[in-house]
Amino acid sequence: MLTFKDLSLYYGGFRALEGVSLHAEDGELVVLLGANGAGKSSVFRAASGLHKATGSIRFGNTELLGMKPSQIVRQGLVQCPEGRKLFPMMSVFKNLMLGAFVHSSDSAGNKKRIDEVFEMFPILLQKKDDPAGSLSGGQQQMVAIGRALMGRPKALMLDEPSLGLAPLVVKQMFETIQRINQAGTTVLLAEQNAYAALKVSNRAYVMERGRIVMEGNSQQLLGDERIRKAYIGG
Ligand SMILES: Nc1ncnc2c1ncn2[C@@H]1O[C@H](COP(=O)(O)OP(=O)(O)OP(=O)(O)O)[C@@H](O)[C@H]1O
Ligand SMILES: [Mg+2]
Repeated sequence: MLTFKDLSLYYGGFRALEGVSLHAEDGELVVLLGANGAGKSSVFRAASGLHKATGSIRFGNTELLGMKPSQIVRQGLVQCPEGRKLFPMMSVFKNLMLGAFVHSSDSAGNKKRIDEVFEMFPILLQKKDDPAGSLSGGQQQMVAIGRALMGRPKALMLDEPSLGLAPLVVKQMFETIQRINQAGTTVLLAEQNAYAALKVSNRAYVMERGRIVMEGNSQQLLGDERIRKAYIGG
């Protein structure tokens, strides 16, 4: 279980998160909804050890706050960041292998893992020697997710994976996320695409201005008037 308790985070004097508490059970797919600037990425940054925060983030029995990013990956919590953050001049293969940096002593394990990534995304095997920047947006998102999988996550935080993708590609992306989840990985998904995200998830939290303002079963939230008005339309 991944549990965030009373998380607060500042950028200088600006409070971006204020008393955020949320959790994901093992094997759950949990969505974090919220408009631009609500604080979704800040939650992930805190959990990845990329920005200092106060409160508590427990993964199983381990407190993650205060750990270095590499230690957190080693614990099994891996982030696929917003905007993909690939190295465009480097090959697809090298970008993927970057995700395995904490497992560099286990080359047999990494080989097995990258074969699984290529099985999930066959197009990446075809393009493994191409510069990542030459791929389509959807393929680049596959590289970003594949790189996160190379970290061998027990829980995966996906930050707006559908952003900027064409509708058909978005649909495939959500199917991929479901497949990863069904294979046993806990998923925490930050999305602005509320309808699609609620469709595939178990539970959801809604953030506004650094706070959780609503939470519930995804099916229920899909039918909630306030959610439809604010995040789905119609
Ligand atoms: N490095 C930073 N320095 C100062 N303020 C920041 C920084 N990063 C984010 N913020 C501010 O913190 C708040 C939360 O930002 P955050 O990126 O967590 O939101 P978000 O929900 O991920 O938004 P988006 O949907 O646009 O990605 C916003 O008001 C944002 O402007
Ligand atoms: Mg964000």
